[in-house]
Amino acid sequence: MENLDQAVIPEFSLDRDCQTLSQHVLQQFSDFTTQAQDISAIMNRIALAAKLVSRRLSRAGLMAGALGFTGETNVQGESVKKMDIYANDVFISVFKRSGLVCRLASEEMEKPYYIPENCPVGRYTLLYDPIDGSSNVDINLNVGSIFSLRQQEGDDLDEKAQDLLQNGDRQIGAGYILYGPSTVLVYTVGKGVHSFVLDPSLGEFILAEENINIPNHGPVYSLNEGNYWQWDESIRDYIRYVHRHEGYTARYSGALVGDFHRILLQGGVFLYPGTVEKPEGKLRLLYESAPLAFLAEQAGGAASTGTQRLLSYVPQELHQRTPLVIGSTKDVQLVESFIQERARHDAEEKALV
Ligand code: AHG
Ligand code: MN
Ligand code: MN
Repeated sequence: MENLDQAVIPEFSLDRDCQTLSQHVLQQFSDFTTQAQDISAIMNRIALAAKLVSRRLSRAGLMAGALGFTGETNVQGESVKKMDIYANDVFISVFKRSGLVCRLASEEMEKPYYIPENCPVGRYTLLYDPIDGSSNVDINLNVGSIFSLRQQEGDDLDEKAQDLLQNGDRQIGAGYILYGPSTVLVYTVGKGVHSFVLDPSLGEFILAEENINIPNHGPVYSLNEGNYWQWDESIRDYIRYVHRHEGYTARYSGALVGDFHRILLQGGVFLYPGTVEKPEGKLRLLYESAPLAFLAEQAGGAASTGTQRLLSYVPQELHQRTPLVIGSTKDVQLVESFIQERARHDAEEKALV
């Protein structure tokens, strides 16, 4: 057996363990401006929130009152899980007395949460989905948290947060945490997409991959085919195409973050289309689709509503939903081509009447 003290210890291990998230964020900015330091500090607080949620998830099965439903219904009209509320409160707690973020907007809160003591200094708003994929929480399958960082514009004195109703190009940063076999944090501040893995023995997120690129095509298509008869005909046209052509495989976990992460790394497309009854679909723009669209474009992929670029879409209200088609450029374009073809077909039919 090889003599252990001659075992090769990768020379990068010490340096690598020092490539922490806050250091990496600072390096994204060529100068150490106040904004660069703010964003680095904000990302560090998000990492703390991620560690607290990850710890709770890893023990939830052994903790009374951690799993299951609260019995409440949220502004989305959805039943709320106890973990949704716990994670929502974690993000609030990590930003109190931080001087960083003065407004939090969450899937779980009808109106933004203000932290007035931060406002004079911290002119940022964090929008977030505290637990994405809640249906997976009680069965120990992957869930995520999604976040989007915006600059507060104006004073918002009436607390209506109208300045948040702008397109996704206004985002300063975005990312998600994937609570899976390991806890992975993926982020962008507009200079590429980078992933970090939580090292529980250090309590630090350590750099795993820099400048991630989505392949321009991939085999995976990811959507809930249980909605087949509720979709517009154009989406059924697309599904019939991938069913009949070699080289496609279906993957769907019921949690957007996990499904997107697969596509970010391996290529393919995720869809949550609108339906005839609910043309706007299920996913929320400001704290689910827009942050992921920012990541997708930064990684060389694409994101659309099916008919327009997702990051150009201007919401009418805080919890606005839109259809989502996101992933490899060629696969997003393929879905869009079926939507365009069906629209052309319907227009021609209409003209004949
Ligand atoms: P959330 O748990 O934050 O409400 O998000 C759930 C979303 C998304 O994560 C997932 O892709 C989608 O809901 C699944 O919806 P269906 O169960 O209708 O497929
Ligand atoms: Mn969600
Ligand atoms: Mn959620």
